[in-house]
Amino acid sequence: MPHPKVIRSVRQMQQAAEGFRTRQKRIGLVPTMGYLHEGHCSLIQQAARRADQVVVSLFVNPTQFGPKEDFKSYPTSFDRDLEVVNSSGGTIVFAPTAHEMYPLGSRTSITVGKLSEHLCGARRPGHFEGVATIVAKLFNAVIPHFAVFGQKDAQQLGIIRRMVQDLNMGVEIVSAPTVREVDGLAKSSRNTYLDPQERQQAAVLFQALQEAREMVCAGEKEVKAVLGAIKQKVRSKPRADVEYISAVDPAEFQPVEQLTGTVLLALAVRFGNARLIDNLILNPAANSNRQNFV
Ligand code: PAJ
Repeated sequence: MPHPKVIRSVRQMQQAAEGFRTRQKRIGLVPTMGYLHEGHCSLIQQAARRADQVVVSLFVNPTQFGPKEDFKSYPTSFDRDLEVVNSSGGTIVFAPTAHEMYPLGSRTSITVGKLSEHLCGARRPGHFEGVATIVAKLFNAVIPHFAVFGQKDAQQLGIIRRMVQDLNMGVEIVSAPTVREVDGLAKSSRNTYLDPQERQQAAVLFQALQEAREMVCAGEKEVKAVLGAIKQKVRSKPRADVEYISAVDPAEFQPVEQLTGTVLLALAVRFGNARLIDNLILNPAANSNRQNFV
């Protein structure tokens, strides 16, 4: 199978992008940290439907990991990733070194203020600053017309959208639904950390969110009651260690008390070494929650 072209330097990536743009070719970017799974594939496929050149970046970004997090043990599978990019419709892999992205003396970073206050932002200090900064740098290297991000990382998606708007970046942000295992567990590179027992119990995240959706469809308006039910369900699994289970507005990611408008239910739960996140967008008024939960 032919492999996508691999580019390792920012300058070379910019030159390739400038060439595509001169020839009126549309560039789509799918930023990833590699160890690709079907969730990433769906993003690449979505990009391939609307671009002439699909750049997939593979870069485990050190600045978005806390000191006690899994940067050093984050799984990699470069050769397999090339195959996956190729079979999903990607044309270029941008895989810079850490030194290429953060040369000695780098000082600039991006913070997206309020949107990072709660959920993962509260639990992972500096995480979204690292994400926003690397995504801005990837945009400057790849110069894409659009970039695709997964709804699974809802807060990340919201922060990137805000950054692009606030800084006039001129990159269209496309969101893609969450791809799941058969039992509902959201696909994640970190699922590989789960032992068989943890893996089995981890499906409770999806089940609990589904139960919450049913409660809301049945007319429940109190956030407290819905979050209480989710917590109880998740905590029934002995290996689950809840980090947060929250309801926020999906624009500013601030906590809400009533399920009136559109609400994001988001949770982070640890199972052994794996920190798993998932979420669900509810719109009690629209009565279309089933479609929203993909
Ligand atoms: P990573 O975790 O590799 O995810 C790359 C992209 O794939 C993100 O947009 C994420 O939301 C999406 N994704 C992950 N699991 C998914 C699933 N099950 N279904 C659909 N999409 C899924 O997110 C990052 O990397 C990094 O923070 C990054 C944006 C690359 C910056 O370093």
